[in-house]
Amino acid sequence: MTAMERLQGGFAQRLRAGTTAAHQHAESGTFVRGLLEGTVSRAAYGRFVHGLHTVYEALEAGLRAHGHDPRIGPLVFPEVERVAALEADLAFFGVEVSAEPLAEARAYARHLEGLSARAPHRLVAHAYTRTLGDLSGGQTLRRGLERAFGLTGTAGVAFYVFERIADVDTFKHRYRATLDALPLSEQEQTEVVDEAVRAFELNAAITRALG
Ligand code: HEM
Repeated sequence: MTAMERLQGGFAQRLRAGTTAAHQHAESGTFVRGLLEGTVSRAAYGRFVHGLHTVYEALEAGLRAHGHDPRIGPLVFPEVERVAALEADLAFFGVEVSAEPLAEARAYARHLEGLSARAPHRLVAHAYTRTLGDLSGGQTLRRGLERAFGLTGTAGVAFYVFERIADVDTFKHRYRATLDALPLSEQEQTEVVDEAVRAFELNAAITRALG
């Protein structure tokens, strides 16, 4: 650990500190407020789930393709993969997987494909943003959806259910420890923190397109 890291904490802490403002921005907006307050429409939520499906297909494919890369492989946790859960939710909301994706979701997926081809270590930023986000605020969003659509059980909210994770806090701790141990150079860490801000922006572009 360098002197600077000792002062600033590890890489997971750098990611959190570097994205605090971006997180606040991502939490605002009409669509996200509607999710939290349980006032979102079924049609808008269905389009959101479809957008997430487009993004997660690209993200999970990118991570898997670089599973042998020691900078990325340790972060490939099958228990947080979301494509199958999103497909269950798409079926529940009556949205075809083959529907035309939101332009913002397609743009995010293309960005991920570009990183996978040219700067795969930057995928770490997107894995971090989505995984810790889904395991944190995602649980609050689930309650809003249950209110909005009168849902019970896991029908329609499969995306927020991590069947293979027994204790979310323990898993998040392990995920942060894994981030801290990734063999990224100082320069690569800085790039990944920058990329994480971009990850929040790309996610926010999707929710802002919906309301
Ligand atoms: C209204 C919506 C949201 C709420 C209520 C919310 C809430 C939270 C809360 C309470 C935490 C802290 C959990 C902890 O420290 O264990 C957290 C962390 C996090 N959230 Fe959100 N969030 C929201 C939206 C988002 C969005 C849209 C993203 C990105 C797509 C996101 C990504 C993250 C990440 C990456 C963390 C982990 C921060 C870290 O400890 O490094 N959140 N969120």
